[in-house]
Amino acid sequence: MDTVEPLFPIPLLRSAGLVPVDLIAALTAAIEGATTAQNLRSAALFHTDVADPRGDPLFSRLTALVTPKLVDFGVLLFGERLEWTVKEMWTNVLEAGGNQVMHSHANSFVSGVLYLTDSDPRCRTVFIRPPGGFDYSFRHHTRTAQMGPYNAGKYLLPEANPGDLVLFPSYLYHEVPVNPGGRRLTVAFNAMPHELDCWGYRIRFSP
Ligand SMILES: [Fe+2]
Repeated sequence: MDTVEPLFPIPLLRSAGLVPVDLIAALTAAIEGATTAQNLRSAALFHTDVADPRGDPLFSRLTALVTPKLVDFGVLLFGERLEWTVKEMWTNVLEAGGNQVMHSHANSFVSGVLYLTDSDPRCRTVFIRPPGGFDYSFRHHTRTAQMGPYNAGKYLLPEANPGDLVLFPSYLYHEVPVNPGGRRLTVAFNAMPHELDCWGYRIRFSP
């Protein structure tokens, strides 16, 4: 019998309905009165300041929900249940016509997005196959070609409902297409393990 081995895949964790309704409502209310800065590349995308979640009661509640998921996800990346810290968290307000250009998150190992509102189906987060990798420079992308994990250039998040969490390695590029719908609110964050150990040589990360 033939077998196909999925060599060296990139994990992405989806946790549906992680954030309870009352916390979604509190976070949504908080953004109404918050100071935001316009994104450099989109006039209809705004961000709150990047904050240490320990100094914010609502972000602290989110962190408590997210941290066990980081521990689980970290097992896929590093093979052990490590201690994890959400080191920074912020809110994104994507108005109609706004978009988020392709980017990755520096100085972080795992990043995540928590969805506070519905997203228009045309405005789902898109994850992009790492560019410049050890891959063919040729493509066979046609209307009839079947796309799968071995040939697709992009992964479109199937759906994201209010309260859902997505975790991904911070090096993974992602973007949000132009929003043709209503205001879309998300909370994003970056996380680090406390320590990595390579045969006794330890690197520690602390706030
Ligand atoms: Fe991002």
